[in-house]
Amino acid sequence: VFDHALVRAMGEPAGYDALRTHFPRTPAPVGPTPAAELLAEFRDRLAPHQLNAWHPRTLSYFTPPPLWMSTVGELLAQVTQQGVDVWHAGPAAAFVEEQVVGWLCDLVGYREDGFGLLTSGGVMANFIALALARGDRRGSALEGLRVYASDQAHFSIARGLAELGFPDETLHLIASDERFRLRADPVAEAIRSDRVAGLQPLAIAAVAGSTSTGSVDLVDELADLAARERLWLHVDAAYGGAARLSARDAGRMPGLERADTVTIDPHKWFFQAYDVGALLVRDGALLGATFSHDPEYYRGGGQGGGLDFYRLGFEGTRRWRALKLWLSWRHLGTDGLGRLIEHTNDLAAALADRLRTSSDFELAVDPPELSVVCFRHLPEGGPHDADALDHHQDRLQRDLEASGDGWLSTTRLRGRTWLRAGIVNYLTRESDLDDLLGSLRELGAR
Ligand SMILES: Cc1ncc(COP(=O)(O)O)c(C=O)c1O
Repeated sequence: VFDHALVRAMGEPAGYDALRTHFPRTPAPVGPTPAAELLAEFRDRLAPHQLNAWHPRTLSYFTPPPLWMSTVGELLAQVTQQGVDVWHAGPAAAFVEEQVVGWLCDLVGYREDGFGLLTSGGVMANFIALALARGDRRGSALEGLRVYASDQAHFSIARGLAELGFPDETLHLIASDERFRLRADPVAEAIRSDRVAGLQPLAIAAVAGSTSTGSVDLVDELADLAARERLWLHVDAAYGGAARLSARDAGRMPGLERADTVTIDPHKWFFQAYDVGALLVRDGALLGATFSHDPEYYRGGGQGGGLDFYRLGFEGTRRWRALKLWLSWRHLGTDGLGRLIEHTNDLAAALADRLRTSSDFELAVDPPELSVVCFRHLPEGGPHDADALDHHQDRLQRDLEASGDGWLSTTRLRGRTWLRAGIVNYLTRESDLDDLLGSLRELGAR
């Protein structure tokens, strides 16, 4: 960490072609290698070439520096090798997962009958949610169904529907508003015309904290609509759900308790070591009803008081994902985690303040809803046509990466390219934002 991660945001050399030469294809090792040599190789050959989540100007995809207590939990989980699938193969571990899932259900505002499970991430959680929405429909019964989501929905909604056997036209994408949010009115309109066409609306898949801009769909209005139309409501709060940890900022994440299913990924804004996502279900009994199987070799199956997690989701052997979250949540408390949420939201607001008052930058969404800020550098000496300006953002992203001074991603919004700062880094300070903008100006001028 101290040799590399705090020195450069991205190791060097940056870029695929340059780094490719360091990693030629080699045959599998036939003989042994001493442990000390392997660790030295990690230090010398792998560590210098990484994206460094610990660097204070790494404002990347949702890649937080993991809390140390989370990393400790990850290590203990691996050393103890508990398989949280059939209850008696990891009895205490299953109880810890039950407890952590209960805390997440409380955060969302579900009642006693809410339940859920930890997943590899949001993609798997969204997949399981769509499987629950599908219920026991199969084959031709999936034809003519419609699922509504905005143009900002995560790709896993489309992938999940496709892999669950829904025809391609099932997903009815609806244009988001000027702040990239899905509103109920255009969804209601789409439902009306779909019904007239003889189609059967099934579900609304909202996103609360979108990947590109952190936009939050109007979940309360969408919940009213879903109730009126008797549709399933899924909310993908993979990133944004963590805002509920802060009493101050929880209001930015309204209505989750009204959803049938909610995705929340602790490995995003709960600052957890990879991987740990979660799906929460308002009527928790639906998980077992959808996924239960009874293979002969799980002889202990059924002993676990409903905590045979392999019966509740898609996976078989499952890592003890709950331990790191259980340890680090208890270590900081909801208050402590909430303060980290507030810090990162404050940083996003501070970055937006600087961009708003700078003539050489443009802000995509003002103010940002959560801790994602999308912006563009406007180089001096324009005018530039739109494509040239897009290209300039891509160049800046690559040049910043190569400089090691910071790390941003890019995204496309309404057909144009924007720099994107996803601020889930609790080590960032306001001075880092000034340094980052300074680097971008310098690189941009060049
Ligand atoms: C809104 C949203 N949903 C789902 C996902 C997928 O999560 P994962 O990559 O952890 O599976 C992401 C990832 O960034 C996301 O931003």
